[in-house]
Amino acid sequence: MYQKTLDYLKEHGMVAPKIGLILGSGLGDLAEEIVNPVKIPYEQIPDFPVSTVEGHAGQLVYGSLAGQKVIALQGRFHYYEGYDLETVTYPIRIFKELGVKSLILTNAAGGVNTSFKPGDLMVISDQLNFTGENPLIGKNNSQGPRFVDMSQTYSKRGIELLHQTAKDLGFHLQEGVYAWMTGPSYETPAEIKAIRLMGGDAVGMSTVPEAIVAKHCGLEVLGVSCITNFASGMQETLNHEEVMAISKEVKPRFKQLIYQVIEQL
Ligand code: HPA
Repeated sequence: MYQKTLDYLKEHGMVAPKIGLILGSGLGDLAEEIVNPVKIPYEQIPDFPVSTVEGHAGQLVYGSLAGQKVIALQGRFHYYEGYDLETVTYPIRIFKELGVKSLILTNAAGGVNTSFKPGDLMVISDQLNFTGENPLIGKNNSQGPRFVDMSQTYSKRGIELLHQTAKDLGFHLQEGVYAWMTGPSYETPAEIKAIRLMGGDAVGMSTVPEAIVAKHCGLEVLGVSCITNFASGMQETLNHEEVMAISKEVKPRFKQLIYQVIEQL
């Protein structure tokens, strides 16, 4: 099923990565730290989707990071771009086939929790899916079971490791529930109120489908949100430029954190 993609990636040296990375809006730079990198633009990879969002480089990067073999998606695929969820999560299936054990999902998100502020990093402890969509709808993929246990989507070990590493680095990490909205319109203030009432701490347009598929195929999942703005209704207006500006500001801390977590995984 994935053979053409896998053959191509292996032929280009992408062999046995242990950790998969999906780098969100403005956070793609971490892939530049990968040592002895193999970089392949998505459009060159057979059967691979192609990214369209500004701020996403759109390439797969493989190599060593913090002494571990990693593979990074520099620029992810979003549902709002018009891909179906099987396409959005295709790279996760490929990571699994290549041998990835742990997946680190990162994103830019709006802060819903009133104690969060732009520039905070948040460990994702759990997720909310309000879209009515699920990437596992359809014939079951043989990588995993029909009915997937989501009682511990984000690994306990990963959550603890993220907190401990942030502490060692001298900054506080928020923790909370990430709510997925399809976008591309930002939420309304009423939607944000509803999300807060239902237990959401941060809101964004990605990550949840990838986490579901990662659980389906048995990967350990870690998630980090970069809080780039107060969610809708909590500040005057919202725009993508602001999201990119804040994630750029947070990038050095974000990179340190993820680097040191990878070292210990
Ligand atoms: N809402 C949805 N997605 C986002 C936001 C937001 O406020 N900020 C960054 N990505």
